[in-house]
Amino acid sequence: MLKIALIAGDGIGPEVTQQGVRCLEAVSEKVGGLDYRLTALPYSGQRYLEQGIVITDDEIADLKREYDVIYLGAVGRPDVPPGIIEKGLLLKLRFDLDQYINFRPVKLYPGIRTPLANKSEKDIDFLVIRENTEDLYCGIGGFLRKHTHHEVATQQMVATRMGVERCLRYAFEACRKRNDQKKLTLVAKTNVLTFAHDLWMRAFEQVGQSYPDITREYHHVDACCMYMATKPEIYDTIVTTNMFGDIITDLGAAIAGGMGIAASGNLNPDHPQAGGPSMFEPVHGSAPDIAGKGIANPIAAILSMAMLLEQMGHARSDAKLIQAGQWLDAACARVCPKFKGKDLDRLDLNTQAVGDLIIKALSE
Ligand code: NAD
Ligand code: IPM
Ligand code: MN
Repeated sequence: MLKIALIAGDGIGPEVTQQGVRCLEAVSEKVGGLDYRLTALPYSGQRYLEQGIVITDDEIADLKREYDVIYLGAVGRPDVPPGIIEKGLLLKLRFDLDQYINFRPVKLYPGIRTPLANKSEKDIDFLVIRENTEDLYCGIGGFLRKHTHHEVATQQMVATRMGVERCLRYAFEACRKRNDQKKLTLVAKTNVLTFAHDLWMRAFEQVGQSYPDITREYHHVDACCMYMATKPEIYDTIVTTNMFGDIITDLGAAIAGGMGIAASGNLNPDHPQAGGPSMFEPVHGSAPDIAGKGIANPIAAILSMAMLLEQMGHARSDAKLIQAGQWLDAACARVCPKFKGKDLDRLDLNTQAVGDLIIKALSE
C-alpha cells in the first residue's frame, strides 16, 4: 500500500492538486487498480490564520511514521508575512524529512510554445538537480540592532562536504541513467564564492573520478542563465546549489512553456532507511493573482503526480506504479499539442477542463 499525504496548501494549490488526484484515480483504474490511500492534511496559510500554527514537530513525526510520500500543491498567502509559511512549512518539510535532492526536469513537451526563437523539443530537454538542504536556505544569521539606523543583517551560506557530496553522487547517477549524452554541468560561482563553491568544485572533481563515463563541465551561474536562453541544447544534466537552483528552474520553466507545466520532486533517496518521505510538487507557487478563478494550469501538478508514481515505483520496484506514472506523463504529452501556440499560463480553458482532457487522453 502506498500511503500518500496530500497537502493542498494555499491559493491555486487546492485547485491544481484536485486535478492531480482525479488523474491518480483515473490512471489507477487504467492499470487495474493501484494499492494506495490518500489522506488530506490541513497544513497551510489558512490554518495558520485560523489556529496560529503552521506545522508542529509531532505532525512532522507523524508524516515520517504514517506516510510513504507527500503530494503538495503550493503554499504562501499575501495576508501572511513572507517566510512564515514558506520557511515554517515548505522548507521545514524539506529539511526535517532530509529531502536533499530537488529533482527538476526542464522539458519542452511536443506542441508547447517556447519563448525562445528557433528552438524545439530536441533543444530544451535537460534535468536540474538542485541541492535542497543547505546553502542560503539554512536560516543561519540574524539581526543586530534591528530597527535602528545602525542595524546589521547577516544570512549565511552553508556548504558541507557531506551535503555536497551526496548531492553530487545523486547527480552523477541520474546523469548516467538519463540518456547517452552523459554530460554533467556544475553551475556555481567559483569566481566570487571562493570558499563555499571551492568546496563544491573540489568535491565535483573528486566524486567525478568514480564516473569516468560522464563528461564534467563547469558554468558560472550568470553564464548559465545566458546559455539557457540562447543555447539550452548544450545541457544534459545540471547540478547546482539550493539558491541558484531555485532561480534557474523558474527560468527553466519559462523556456519550457511556463510555470503551469514545470514539475518537481523533493527526494530523500535514503528513505525509508533514514529521514522522511519524498515530496512531489509543482515548481510554481500559490499564484494569488489567479487563485479562486479556476483558471490555473494543472499540468505541472499532474506531471508532479506522474513523477511521484514513477519514482515511488522505482524505489519499491513496483512495475504497476512505474507504468501508471509513465502513462500519466504520456497522457499529458498527448494533450500538449492541443495548446499549440498558446500561452500555457493563460489558457482559455479552465483548470477542470485541462484535467478532463488529460483523463480522456489516458483512455485513448
Ligand atoms: P508563483 O509561481 O505563485 O506565480 C508567478 C506567476 O506565474 C504568476 O503570475 C502566476 O499567476 C503564474 N503562475 C504560477 N503557476 C501557474 C499556473 N499553474 N497556471 C497559470 N499561471 C501560473 O510565484 P510568486 O507570485 O512569486 O509567489 C506567490 C506565493 O507562492 C508566495 O507566497 C511565494 O512564497 C509562494 N511560493 C510557493 C512555492 C511552493 O509552495 N512550492 C513556490 C514558489 C512560490
Ligand atoms: C520553490 C520555491 C521555494 C524555494 C520557496 C517558496 C521557499 O520558490 O520551490 O522553488 O525557494 O525553494
Ligand atoms: Mn522557486
